[in-house]
Amino acid sequence: MNVSPVAAQWHHYLVLAYLLASVLVFVVLQFFIKAAYGRHKGAKTAWFWGPGVPTRWAWMLMEAPSALGFALIYFLGAEAWNLAPLLLLAMWQAHYFQRSFIFPFRLRTKPGDTTPLLVPVLAFTTNLGVSFANAAILSWPGISRPYPPSWLSDPRFLFGAALFVAGYYINRRADAMLAALRKPGESGYKIPRGWLYEKVSCPNYLGELMIWTGWAIATWSLAGLSFVAWTAANLIPRACANHRWYRETFPDYPANRKVLIPGLL
Ligand SMILES: NC(=O)c1ccc[n+]([C@@H]2O[C@H](COP(=O)([O-])OP(=O)(O)OC[C@H]3O[C@@H](n4cnc5c(N)ncnc54)[C@H](OP(=O)(O)O)[C@@H]3O)[C@@H](O)[C@H]2O)c1
Repeated sequence: MNVSPVAAQWHHYLVLAYLLASVLVFVVLQFFIKAAYGRHKGAKTAWFWGPGVPTRWAWMLMEAPSALGFALIYFLGAEAWNLAPLLLLAMWQAHYFQRSFIFPFRLRTKPGDTTPLLVPVLAFTTNLGVSFANAAILSWPGISRPYPPSWLSDPRFLFGAALFVAGYYINRRADAMLAALRKPGESGYKIPRGWLYEKVSCPNYLGELMIWTGWAIATWSLAGLSFVAWTAANLIPRACANHRWYRETFPDYPANRKVLIPGLL
């Protein structure tokens, strides 16, 4: 599919919209409301977030556009079978296939646990936009930058891919450690101990931010940058809220633990 200059212009506007929306979403989530899932679900605001859907289905519903939608958009592009775009597609899918179809079944949720409908609906919609913005830059001529095979030895690709892999490892290991805190049948919360949890409250979010910073560098694109901004706008306020919650809930919570970045934040 060849893209007209008008369509390319609209793609650019979409990316700019995500950058601007990230600032707004950060302010709202940092200072006014908390996304109502997991430990931050509240009875008082339940009317706003809507009825509950089973949590595993909520995860699949909201992440599937980032796996399946991304692949569909990508393969509509004329550059789809070129080596460097294919490798970038593989990186994206390594994360999102796992997140959509494996991660939900590794969660230790309590029987009957639900997530308010508005959470997966909002995430489904925004993930679709992010997927379009990031898939089109890889394979749609007129939108994509050229990614020739030589891009794979460019220092931007190499550094970005290394950061992506390091973030992937941190994110997966930190998520697995959280899942392991609950024995079968348990549903409460415990203080996570060991490895990066000795340094920060939310190493899983740190890993996620490294993944998408790596992606932005490896693709050297405004679309990639808009996705890091969007992820940071969601995860930094969430990390602060989780950290506060740990301190309020556990009197013996380690005082030297930071929120997200060891030694800094
Ligand atoms: N790209 C993005 O913008 C974005 C946005 C959100 C999430 N994510 C990613 O999605 C993954 C999950 O995020 P999340 O916000 O759901 O993470 P989370 O709040 O840390 O929870 C993850 C899972 O661990 C459980 N859990 C958390 N802390 C626990 C504790 N102290 N004791 C026992 N169980 C605990 C949670 O149970 P409960 O459900 O019962 O609390 C949930 O099942 C992360 O890898 C994150 O990076 C990405």
